[in-house]
Amino acid sequence: MRVVTIVILLCLCKAAALRKAGPSGGARSRATPGRAGGGRRASSLVRRYAPGLPCDVYTYLHEKYLDCQERKLVYVLPGWPQDLLHMLLARNKIRVLKNNMFSKFRKLRSLDLQQNEISKIESEAFFGLNKLTTLLLQHNQIKVLTEEVFIYTPLLSYLRLYDNPWHCTCEIETLVSMLQIPRNRNLGNYAKCESPQELKNKKLLQIRSEQLCDEEEKEQLDPKSQVAGRPLVTKPEVDSTLCHNYVFPIQTLDCKRKELKKVPNNIPPDIVKLDLSYNKIKQLRPKEFEDVHELKKLNLSSNGIEFIDPGSLR
Ligand SMILES: *[C@@H]1O[C@H](CO)[C@@H](O)[C@H](O)[C@H]1NC(C)=O
Repeated sequence: MRVVTIVILLCLCKAAALRKAGPSGGARSRATPGRAGGGRRASSLVRRYAPGLPCDVYTYLHEKYLDCQERKLVYVLPGWPQDLLHMLLARNKIRVLKNNMFSKFRKLRSLDLQQNEISKIESEAFFGLNKLTTLLLQHNQIKVLTEEVFIYTPLLSYLRLYDNPWHCTCEIETLVSMLQIPRNRNLGNYAKCESPQELKNKKLLQIRSEQLCDEEEKEQLDPKSQVAGRPLVTKPEVDSTLCHNYVFPIQTLDCKRKELKKVPNNIPPDIVKLDLSYNKIKQLRPKEFEDVHELKKLNLSSNGIEFIDPGSLR
């Protein structure tokens, strides 16, 4: 993790207890998002993110849409209505689909994520989307994906995966088998391997599993050599949606006094300032902040930290 300056305040035991007497020392500014004007129908629902236009929420033929295309988004924003049926997020800057990222939007039927910069999809990224039928992931940076991410989308009938640099090894074998089931005829059409060289331009729908998994490759792929892009399964547990997310003046996630026992596992990756003070976090696990690339300021005061894994702040 490229962190320029991390400010960690570990006020352990007594220091924290003493301070508890006085209420929080006022200086922290609580930025609220600038909501200029507000004449538009969507502006009360949606926070402005990119300088310029807010996202549009509208109803068309009785179905609710969110149009947030080309807004430089890197994550879903708090405050989007939960009863959306269609979410248009094309041409943004999303890089990671985090576990539970869409789990609030239980009615969602279509999700358009094409032309982003997605290179990693966590195994529970689509958790809760059991009405989803259409998922557009074309034109991203996905190299590897396994079938397991689609466990939560049983109704998926239209999936676009082309224009991604597919790395065709045994790792994507479960995905390829899923795409090749005859009834899944609208899943994954046109997607082609980018690497390795001998499979370049081969269509995922036509590749045979022996071509993906030859013997030598199986050895390399024992669980110890998990590569990035294929996260270990983490159960949805501590949820960062309890926290307040402020966009202005800097991306801040305020999780102060939320009774958290662990660092939330779905911190939006663009958070710059993270306040975890006054919780019950006793230990920091390895790679705890791995995906929060922009993090510069981390406040862990008043938690009673007992153990910090040496890898937790990498
Ligand atoms: C960290 O949080 C504590 C408690 O909320 C607060 O008193 C302190 O000023 C914060 N430190 C920084 C550097 O923001």
